[in-house]
Amino acid sequence: MSNAPVFEIDPKAFWSDPYPDLAKMRATAPIAFVPQLGATLITRRNDIFENEKKIDVFSSDQPNGLMTVLMGQNMMRKDGAAHQAERRAIFPTVSPKTVQNVWKSKFEAATSDILSRLHPRGTADVVADIARPISGEALKAMTGLTNMTWQEMDRVSQGMIDGCANYAGDPQVEARCHDCTASIDAHISARKAALINAPDHSLLSVMMQAGLTDHQISANVKLAISGGQNEPRDAIAGAVWALLTHDDQLAAIRNGGATWLAAFEEYARWMSPIGMSPRRVAKSHNANGVAFQPEDRVFLMFSSGNRDSECFANPDAFDIFQDVSKAISFGAGPHFCAGAWASKCLIAEVALPMIFEHFKGLELAGDAPFGGWAFRGPLQVPVRWQV
Ligand code: HEM
Repeated sequence: MSNAPVFEIDPKAFWSDPYPDLAKMRATAPIAFVPQLGATLITRRNDIFENEKKIDVFSSDQPNGLMTVLMGQNMMRKDGAAHQAERRAIFPTVSPKTVQNVWKSKFEAATSDILSRLHPRGTADVVADIARPISGEALKAMTGLTNMTWQEMDRVSQGMIDGCANYAGDPQVEARCHDCTASIDAHISARKAALINAPDHSLLSVMMQAGLTDHQISANVKLAISGGQNEPRDAIAGAVWALLTHDDQLAAIRNGGATWLAAFEEYARWMSPIGMSPRRVAKSHNANGVAFQPEDRVFLMFSSGNRDSECFANPDAFDIFQDVSKAISFGAGPHFCAGAWASKCLIAEVALPMIFEHFKGLELAGDAPFGGWAFRGPLQVPVRWQV
């Protein structure tokens, strides 16, 4: 175990709002062992930025980790050449060019359909009724699992996320996760023949074209689903809430004084949809006076780094005018989010402008409680508009 200073947390309070504890850690114990999480947390932005690149020490290969055990070993759980080979194979799906030429029009069509069908209701929960289907439809297109409903996409994504966080070993959570991964494998099998006859830009198709094994294909489709559904969902719903509670900033975007992209990037800094990424210590290492031991579990706390006052002028506020170039919302190393370009397009070029354009007089209709520290987002965002 590392000799980092021990920092105790109350897991319930940490889930509700991790930011007060993270601020204390940054100030008093920037690399700290948290017994309740069984991990050493790196909390300052520049320490994360520097150490994430040291893959010989902070390895992504975690053979006993729940993600690898339950979903198979995907690219996010590999290092070096093995990681790079799979990352290169999926580039034709996630490249900025493919996003603009192939996915953007599909994102727009699905979003338009979802918003038009909701419009007569005059009221909705942005999380469940708007952001969830928008994210699910985008992921159906990008993964190639067009034979899945967006509801099933959301279910299997959540089931895997719960399975990967099931440190207590609840058998029901594990069984649900197995059911979700089995559903994904069945949908992959059912799509393969069509994609052999008519290859496209989807993840499933490009991995087949690159000759990846069935195991690699299955593990990486599951990775995209576990990581690609809830983050855009939470970022869309959270950014809508942030803009509705900061009228001046929404007005600035509407009159051309700021951009939807600035709103998304600032939201993702402020309320990091992915708060952390785990690593396994592969060899003894000293950093900032802390001696790490092989097999230590380390959490790179992106959420904390994104609130570091060394790097951001107004760290605890939602402020779309501040410089966020040092934000690490999508990571800071070789595993930098492969879906970053798609997310920026989906959220900043499609979802946010279309939601605010479509629903005239959009306003909040109740409270929006937030939860989570590994994944964080609003649990609901009730709104109403003029019909
Ligand atoms: C708001 C949206 C999103 C956020 C904030 C986000 C954030 C992240 C973060 C923090 C990582 C880990 C980076 C690291 O460890 O350095 C990651 C990895 C990844 N994300 Fe995303 N993500 C988002 C959306 C998506 C989407 C829509 C997809 C797929 C369509 C996706 C696919 C991936 C993949 C494949 C990886 C692993 C990359 C690798 O190991 O090389 N993400 N993402």
